[in-house]
Amino acid sequence: MKDGLLFLDTGDLAEIEKYLKLGIVDGVTTNPTIMKACGVTGGFAVIRDRSKAIAEMIGHLPLSLETSSPHGDEQEIIDQARKFASWSPNINIKVTFTDQNGKLFLGVIKKLAKDRIKVNATAMMNAEQCFLAAKAGAAYVSLFAGRIANMGYDPVPVIRQLREWLDVSGLPAQIIAASSREFINIQQWWSAGAHIITVTPNLLKPLDHPYTRDTVAMFERDAADWFPGWLEWKARQKKK
Ligand code: E4P
Repeated sequence: MKDGLLFLDTGDLAEIEKYLKLGIVDGVTTNPTIMKACGVTGGFAVIRDRSKAIAEMIGHLPLSLETSSPHGDEQEIIDQARKFASWSPNINIKVTFTDQNGKLFLGVIKKLAKDRIKVNATAMMNAEQCFLAAKAGAAYVSLFAGRIANMGYDPVPVIRQLREWLDVSGLPAQIIAASSREFINIQQWWSAGAHIITVTPNLLKPLDHPYTRDTVAMFERDAADWFPGWLEWKARQKKK
Protein backbone atom coordinates (compact mmCIF):
# COMPACT_ATOMS: atom_id res chain seq x y z
CA MET A 1 0.00 0.00 0.00
CA LYS A 2 1.48 3.33 -1.05
CA ASP A 3 -1.48 5.67 -0.61
CA GLY A 4 -4.09 6.13 2.07
CA LEU A 5 -1.63 5.74 4.92
CA LEU A 6 -1.99 7.19 8.41
CA PHE A 7 0.93 8.05 10.67
CA LEU A 8 0.10 8.71 14.30
CA ASP A 9 1.63 11.98 15.53
CA THR A 10 2.44 11.14 19.14
CA GLY A 11 5.01 9.88 21.59
CA ASP A 12 2.37 8.38 23.88
CA LEU A 13 2.80 4.61 24.15
CA ALA A 14 -0.75 3.93 25.36
CA GLU A 15 -2.26 5.83 22.41
CA ILE A 16 0.01 4.05 19.94
CA GLU A 17 -0.94 0.67 21.40
CA LYS A 18 -4.64 1.57 21.25
CA TYR A 19 -4.60 2.52 17.57
CA LEU A 20 -2.21 -0.28 16.57
CA LYS A 21 -4.75 -2.76 17.92
CA LEU A 22 -7.38 -1.20 15.65
CA GLY A 23 -5.17 -1.91 12.66
CA ILE A 24 -5.28 1.61 11.23
CA VAL A 25 -1.78 2.88 12.03
CA ASP A 26 0.89 2.71 9.32
CA GLY A 27 3.63 4.51 11.21
CA VAL A 28 4.43 6.99 13.97
CA THR A 29 5.87 10.48 13.73
CA THR A 30 7.34 12.57 16.51
CA ASN A 31 9.22 15.82 16.92
CA PRO A 32 10.71 17.56 19.96
CA THR A 33 7.44 19.43 20.60
CA ILE A 34 5.33 16.26 20.42
CA MET A 35 7.73 14.42 22.75
CA LYS A 36 7.67 17.30 25.23
CA ALA A 37 3.86 17.45 25.14
CA CYS A 38 3.81 13.70 25.89
CA GLY A 39 5.98 14.25 28.97
CA VAL A 40 9.10 12.77 27.37
CA THR A 41 11.54 15.21 28.99
CA GLY A 42 14.62 14.96 31.17
CA GLY A 43 17.49 14.48 28.79
CA PHE A 44 18.69 12.43 25.86
CA ALA A 45 18.47 9.08 27.66
CA VAL A 46 14.75 9.60 28.22
CA ILE A 47 14.21 10.34 24.53
CA ARG A 48 16.28 7.29 23.61
CA ASP A 49 14.31 4.98 25.89
CA ARG A 50 10.92 6.20 24.69
CA SER A 51 11.99 6.11 21.04
CA LYS A 52 13.24 2.55 21.38
CA ALA A 53 10.03 1.55 23.15
CA ILE A 54 7.89 3.02 20.34
CA ALA A 55 10.08 1.43 17.65
CA GLU A 56 9.75 -1.96 19.31
CA MET A 57 6.01 -1.61 19.85
CA ILE A 58 5.29 -0.80 16.18
CA GLY A 59 7.56 -3.58 14.88
CA HIS A 60 8.12 -3.25 11.15
CA LEU A 61 6.23 0.06 10.83
CA PRO A 62 8.25 3.27 10.42
CA LEU A 63 8.98 5.69 13.26
CA SER A 64 10.19 9.23 12.50
CA LEU A 65 12.55 10.84 15.03
CA GLU A 66 13.54 14.46 14.57
CA THR A 67 17.12 15.69 14.78
CA SER A 68 17.84 19.07 16.30
CA SER A 69 20.91 21.22 16.65
CA PRO A 70 20.74 24.45 18.64
CA HIS A 71 23.47 25.94 16.44
CA GLY A 72 22.24 24.60 13.11
CA ASP A 73 25.37 22.48 12.96
CA GLU A 74 25.28 20.05 10.03
CA GLN A 75 27.70 17.57 11.57
CA GLU A 76 25.69 17.54 14.79
CA ILE A 77 22.55 16.68 12.80
CA ILE A 78 24.38 13.92 10.93
CA ASP A 79 25.83 12.41 14.13
CA GLN A 80 22.44 12.54 15.80
CA ALA A 81 20.79 10.96 12.77
CA ARG A 82 23.29 8.08 12.76
CA LYS A 83 22.74 7.54 16.48
CA PHE A 84 18.93 7.54 16.15
CA ALA A 85 19.07 5.21 13.16
CA SER A 86 21.25 2.75 15.09
CA TRP A 87 18.54 2.28 17.72
CA SER A 88 16.23 0.30 15.46
CA PRO A 89 15.96 -0.57 11.74
CA ASN A 90 12.46 0.95 11.52
CA ILE A 91 13.61 4.41 12.66
CA ASN A 92 13.79 7.11 10.00
CA ILE A 93 15.25 10.52 10.51
CA LYS A 94 13.52 13.86 10.35
CA VAL A 95 15.68 16.68 9.08
CA THR A 96 14.17 20.17 8.91
CA PHE A 97 14.48 21.82 5.49
CA THR A 98 16.54 24.65 7.03
CA ASP A 99 17.64 25.69 10.48
CA GLN A 100 15.88 28.58 12.18
CA ASN A 101 18.14 31.06 10.38
CA GLY A 102 17.41 29.70 6.93
CA LYS A 103 20.52 27.58 6.46
CA LEU A 104 19.61 24.83 4.02
CA PHE A 105 19.93 21.23 5.18
CA LEU A 106 19.60 19.71 1.69
CA GLY A 107 23.27 18.66 1.86
CA VAL A 108 22.59 16.82 5.11
CA ILE A 109 19.65 15.03 3.52
CA LYS A 110 21.84 14.05 0.57
CA LYS A 111 24.60 12.74 2.84
CA LEU A 112 22.25 10.68 5.02
CA ALA A 113 20.43 9.26 2.01
CA LYS A 114 23.82 8.24 0.56
CA ASP A 115 24.48 6.40 3.84
CA ARG A 116 21.14 4.60 3.26
CA ILE A 117 19.49 6.37 6.17
CA LYS A 118 15.82 7.01 5.42
CA VAL A 119 15.17 10.74 5.73
CA ASN A 120 11.87 12.44 6.45
CA ALA A 121 12.45 16.05 5.32
CA THR A 122 10.25 18.16 7.52
CA ALA A 123 8.80 21.57 8.39
CA MET A 124 8.17 22.40 4.72
CA MET A 125 5.60 24.95 3.62
CA ASN A 126 5.51 24.69 -0.17
CA ALA A 127 5.76 22.19 -3.01
CA GLU A 128 9.14 23.51 -4.13
CA GLN A 129 10.84 22.77 -0.80
CA CYS A 130 9.31 19.29 -0.79
CA PHE A 131 10.31 18.49 -4.35
CA LEU A 132 13.89 19.65 -3.82
CA ALA A 133 14.14 17.59 -0.62
CA ALA A 134 12.93 14.58 -2.64
CA LYS A 135 15.59 15.33 -5.24
CA ALA A 136 18.24 15.44 -2.51
CA GLY A 137 17.19 11.93 -1.49
CA ALA A 138 14.48 12.25 1.17
CA ALA A 139 12.26 9.18 1.40
CA TYR A 140 9.42 11.18 2.94
CA VAL A 141 8.62 14.85 2.38
CA SER A 142 6.54 16.41 5.14
CA LEU A 143 4.42 19.31 3.95
CA PHE A 144 2.94 21.12 6.96
CA ALA A 145 -0.45 21.45 5.30
CA GLY A 146 -2.26 22.51 8.47
CA ARG A 147 0.22 25.30 9.06
CA ILE A 148 -0.21 26.44 5.43
CA ALA A 149 -3.96 26.62 6.10
CA ASN A 150 -3.30 28.47 9.37
CA MET A 151 -1.65 31.21 7.28
CA GLY A 152 -4.74 31.54 5.12
CA TYR A 153 -3.61 29.49 2.11
CA ASP A 154 -5.20 26.35 0.71
CA PRO A 155 -2.80 23.39 0.95
CA VAL A 156 -4.86 21.21 -1.42
CA PRO A 157 -3.47 22.59 -4.73
CA VAL A 158 0.02 22.47 -3.20
CA ILE A 159 -0.33 18.75 -2.43
CA ARG A 160 -1.82 18.12 -5.90
CA GLN A 161 1.05 19.95 -7.62
CA LEU A 162 3.68 18.13 -5.56
CA ARG A 163 2.18 14.72 -6.30
CA GLU A 164 2.15 15.54 -10.00
CA TRP A 165 5.81 16.57 -9.95
CA LEU A 166 6.86 13.47 -8.01
CA ASP A 167 4.91 11.14 -10.30
CA VAL A 168 6.28 12.74 -13.46
CA SER A 169 9.86 12.82 -12.19
CA GLY A 170 9.74 9.26 -10.90
CA LEU A 171 11.25 10.30 -7.58
CA PRO A 172 10.25 7.70 -4.99
CA ALA A 173 9.56 10.11 -2.09
CA GLN A 174 6.23 9.80 -0.34
CA ILE A 175 4.24 12.91 0.56
CA ILE A 176 3.36 13.26 4.22
CA ALA A 177 0.63 15.87 4.68
CA ALA A 178 1.34 16.90 8.25
CA SER A 179 -0.11 19.22 10.90
CA SER A 180 -3.66 18.06 10.34
CA ARG A 181 -6.13 20.19 12.25
CA GLU A 182 -9.57 18.76 11.39
CA PHE A 183 -10.96 15.30 10.65
CA ILE A 184 -11.95 16.47 7.17
CA ASN A 185 -8.25 17.06 6.35
CA ILE A 186 -7.96 13.27 5.92
CA GLN A 187 -10.34 13.23 2.95
CA GLN A 188 -9.09 16.54 1.54
CA TRP A 189 -5.40 15.60 1.59
CA TRP A 190 -5.65 11.96 0.53
CA SER A 191 -7.84 13.07 -2.37
CA ALA A 192 -5.28 15.72 -3.30
CA GLY A 193 -2.56 13.07 -3.59
CA ALA A 194 -0.84 12.83 -0.22
CA HIS A 195 0.43 9.30 0.35
CA ILE A 196 0.38 9.70 4.12
CA ILE A 197 -1.44 11.93 6.58
CA THR A 198 -0.26 12.53 10.13
CA VAL A 199 -2.99 12.53 12.74
CA THR A 200 -2.92 13.12 16.46
CA PRO A 201 -4.96 10.63 18.52
CA ASN A 202 -7.27 13.53 19.36
CA LEU A 203 -8.10 14.13 15.71
CA LEU A 204 -9.45 10.58 15.38
CA LYS A 205 -12.26 11.19 17.89
CA PRO A 206 -14.95 11.59 15.18
CA LEU A 207 -14.47 7.89 14.35
CA ASP A 208 -17.01 7.45 17.13
CA HIS A 209 -19.97 8.91 15.22
CA PRO A 210 -23.34 9.59 16.88
CA TYR A 211 -25.25 8.48 13.78
CA THR A 212 -23.31 5.21 13.70
CA ARG A 213 -24.29 4.71 17.33
CA ASP A 214 -27.98 5.40 16.50
CA THR A 215 -27.87 3.01 13.57
CA VAL A 216 -26.29 0.24 15.61
CA ALA A 217 -28.89 0.82 18.35
CA MET A 218 -31.58 0.22 15.68
CA PHE A 219 -29.87 -3.03 14.58
CA GLU A 220 -29.57 -4.18 18.18
CA ARG A 221 -33.27 -3.47 18.87
CA ASP A 222 -34.34 -5.34 15.76
CA ALA A 223 -32.05 -8.27 16.46
CA ALA A 224 -33.38 -8.57 20.00
CA ASP A 225 -35.63 -11.54 19.19
CA TRP A 226 -32.53 -13.48 18.14
CA PHE A 227 -31.62 -13.54 21.83
CA PRO A 228 -34.77 -14.10 23.92
CA GLY A 229 -34.81 -12.14 27.19
CA TRP A 230 -31.94 -9.93 26.10
CA LEU A 231 -33.86 -6.62 26.10
CA GLU A 232 -35.19 -7.34 29.58
CA TRP A 233 -31.67 -8.18 30.75
CA LYS A 234 -30.36 -4.90 29.34
CA ALA A 235 -33.15 -2.93 31.05
CA ARG A 236 -32.26 -4.61 34.36
CA GLN A 237 -28.57 -3.72 33.92
CA LYS A 238 -29.49 -0.07 33.29
CA LYS A 239 -31.47 0.11 36.55
CA LYS A 240 -28.48 -1.14 38.63
C1 E4P B 1 4.54 15.62 11.70
O1 E4P B 1 5.43 15.00 11.19
C2 E4P B 1 4.69 16.99 12.22
O2 E4P B 1 5.77 17.06 13.07
C3 E4P B 1 3.45 17.45 12.88
O3 E4P B 1 2.33 17.03 12.17
C4 E4P B 1 3.47 18.93 13.13
O4 E4P B 1 2.26 19.32 13.64
P1 E4P B 1 1.98 20.77 14.21
O5 E4P B 1 1.90 21.73 13.07
O6 E4P B 1 0.69 20.61 14.92
O7 E4P B 1 3.11 21.14 15.14
